[in-house]
Amino acid sequence: MPVFTLAHLSDIHLSPMPRARRRDLFGKRALGYVNWHRGRKFVHRREILDLLTRDLIERKPDHIAVTGDLVNLGLPEEFLRAAEWLHHLGPPSRVTAIPGNHDAYVRLHPEAGTDHWQPFMEANSDGAALMPTPETRFPFVRRFGDVAIVALSSAIPTMPFIAAGKVGEAQRIHVAKVLEELGEQGLFRVLLIHHPPLRDQAGWHRGLRDAAKFTDVLKRHGAELVLHGHNHAQTVHELETATGTAIVVGVPSASEAVEGGVPAARYNEYCIARAGNGWHVEMVGRSVAATPEHVWECERRVLRER
Ligand SMILES: [Fe+2]
Ligand SMILES: [Fe+2]
Repeated sequence: MPVFTLAHLSDIHLSPMPRARRRDLFGKRALGYVNWHRGRKFVHRREILDLLTRDLIERKPDHIAVTGDLVNLGLPEEFLRAAEWLHHLGPPSRVTAIPGNHDAYVRLHPEAGTDHWQPFMEANSDGAALMPTPETRFPFVRRFGDVAIVALSSAIPTMPFIAAGKVGEAQRIHVAKVLEELGEQGLFRVLLIHHPPLRDQAGWHRGLRDAAKFTDVLKRHGAELVLHGHNHAQTVHELETATGTAIVVGVPSASEAVEGGVPAARYNEYCIARAGNGWHVEMVGRSVAATPEHVWECERRVLRER
């Protein structure tokens, strides 16, 4: 198998914020709107995102995974703009997206929300042949040769100041079957989820409510690589599973400027290749550096050697 390159970015928090109509600003959205204009708009900067994505597109990875929080307040106009942004990143056959908690900020009819991203959030024909998608939209499977992407949703609407997520029993049951089946076929399984999947990676008010049960599924059925966002930080964990070590990687926000305008935005690129009976996986981190702002290789690290 030739090397397969998979780029991962997350927590786009697309700006600028569209002008909101008064009737769209109620409850959680009203608080979020104030929050955005008081501070978050200085953190998630469009020019940083554009710099990072230009670099990513130029590197022509085989595939791009976007793990949620594309929008901020769930305004209908935000979903349309995020759909345009996804199309700019690449065609749906080369870009996979899943939602985050900000994409389920308030209860919204899917037609006004994530339905606009549907071409990026569905199985491809090779994936569907392996594992038909259930009645619900998630999980879905996309297969590219020896690499299979299993995409989950942990996005649920919550009360103000709560950013928690949940996989839920139906998805957990289906994901267990999917991981088992793909593992038996000897494929490299990449799992996409917005919230950090392991216990203790986030507190009650912003973590995965069923992290313990979901970790159990991972331990029993295995996965080679688990990619997530939400914490806006670069983290690498290892989880021992029935089929070997699963590497769990969180990526920072793709648009983030930390205090003082210094960029922290980053994406990771994974080079995946067969090595004997196992896999060789190298992670290349590309991040935005300040003065002058440019993208550089901030990390290169072998995650799996076989
Ligand atoms: Fe986020
Ligand atoms: Fe999030």
